[in-house]
Amino acid sequence: MAKRVVILGAQWGDEGKGKLVDLLTDHVKAVVRFQGGHNAGHTVVVNNKKTILHLLPSGILHKDVANYIGSGVVLSPTALVEELNGLYAQGVHDANKRLYIGDSCSLLLPYHAVLDQARETALGEGAIGTTRRGIGPAYVDKVARMGLRASDLIQTESFIDKFTEVFEYHDFILQNYYGMPALDFKKMLDEVLAAIEIVRPLLADVPAKLFAHYKNGDQMLFEGAQGTFLDIDHGTYPFVTSSNTVAGAASVGSGFGPLYVDYVLGVAKAYTTRVGSGPFPTELHDHIGARLAERGDEFGATTRRPRRCGWLDIPLLRRSVFLNSITALGVTKLDILDGMDKINICVGYRLHGKTIDVAPSIPEDFKACEPIYEELPGWDESTFGVKSFDALPKAAKHYLKRIEELLQTRIALVTTGQDRDEVIIIEHPFG
Ligand code: GDP
Ligand code: IMO
Ligand code: MG
Repeated sequence: MAKRVVILGAQWGDEGKGKLVDLLTDHVKAVVRFQGGHNAGHTVVVNNKKTILHLLPSGILHKDVANYIGSGVVLSPTALVEELNGLYAQGVHDANKRLYIGDSCSLLLPYHAVLDQARETALGEGAIGTTRRGIGPAYVDKVARMGLRASDLIQTESFIDKFTEVFEYHDFILQNYYGMPALDFKKMLDEVLAAIEIVRPLLADVPAKLFAHYKNGDQMLFEGAQGTFLDIDHGTYPFVTSSNTVAGAASVGSGFGPLYVDYVLGVAKAYTTRVGSGPFPTELHDHIGARLAERGDEFGATTRRPRRCGWLDIPLLRRSVFLNSITALGVTKLDILDGMDKINICVGYRLHGKTIDVAPSIPEDFKACEPIYEELPGWDESTFGVKSFDALPKAAKHYLKRIEELLQTRIALVTTGQDRDEVIIIEHPFG
């Protein structure tokens, strides 16, 4: 029986991680975010009520669950306060009582968003299609060892000194390299100062607290953001985010030792989507892609940009399985495939005249891959809200079985709707 489960995206993000984290949170004492920032958009629907979380762990709606933001996350104090206020307005008045923020988190400050926008604009056609939230520039400051950290919020005076120094550097770059007007120092500083008092009491030694859960034998969830192929090392560089999104990051980005984790749930949509630029071999530019986008309401949860849609890509998922040591899969949005005549699965690629069955590591090769499809029958019946595997149409069962066979990995969960209980539990990760 697993005790510490990592949930992460096996594709390019938006696989439905938030829904599965929320579902499994009933069984845990702690939910931990370990990378990314408020570029994530994790949708949780409970009794038809929709909440989109960006920075806060998806366990925040549950009473009696501690929510942690680990040091691998880039934390925007203003975005955090805005998100907490949104929850208070929805009646979740005690959200801050169960939230702990790693004091070693790097801060994402208002100038980072301006830098992100300036860089994307300068890239023109070659833009990455970032969320323009400042995620990349915040990680740049972190690895350049010039960034501010959450612990810098403790002393307001020294915070202002450090803020001023870094602000001046970025303001110089923006004006002199990007030809932008000067930044408004007072406005930016005031924005952050207004958030400090709210963030400061939430700071904690997160690794020590997580170890205490471990010693206590608590069940815990580690919630990935983005997806495997947006990983800075293992994704489709440079069309990636600026953090590691693979399973190993759960340990690094939270300070929870790697051997304490015992289950990795890889979440994959029953098809594939991607927001932003970059290669996508199984992308559909026809009416089928448009149908998936429409039925699946495929618009980014953070930016509302249309998501690109395509068939399920097994070579990509095969790579995901070993990059993340995936124990079992959560297959989401099966209901979106209802009513299709035929469903294609990409089972291999043709690359430079050869057939390969695992996505290549070099992005240029990946871009040159042509999908090889296997055609499976679709189903007319509705799978929406179905809660048992046996109740699925024969062709849907066959589709899922074929995925397991091709990936040599079992499917633990299948989701059939947005709501918390629209799910088929084949194997519960917590036993
Ligand atoms: P995340 O970033 O991985 O948490 O995923 P997002 O929340 O960005 O996007 C997933 C979207 O699919 C959300 O709108 C979910 O409510 C929705 N969703 C999740 N599972 C299902 C499902 O089984 N069926 C349908 N129709 N929608 C789903
Ligand atoms: P969740 O957690 C899908 C994509 C952006 C862009 C690239 C870099 O909801 O799955 P960034 O702003 O991170 O510098 O953008 O990464 N991206 C996501 N795509 N889901 C997300 O989060 C994403 N967060 C970033 O579209 O291509
Ligand atoms: Mg999302």
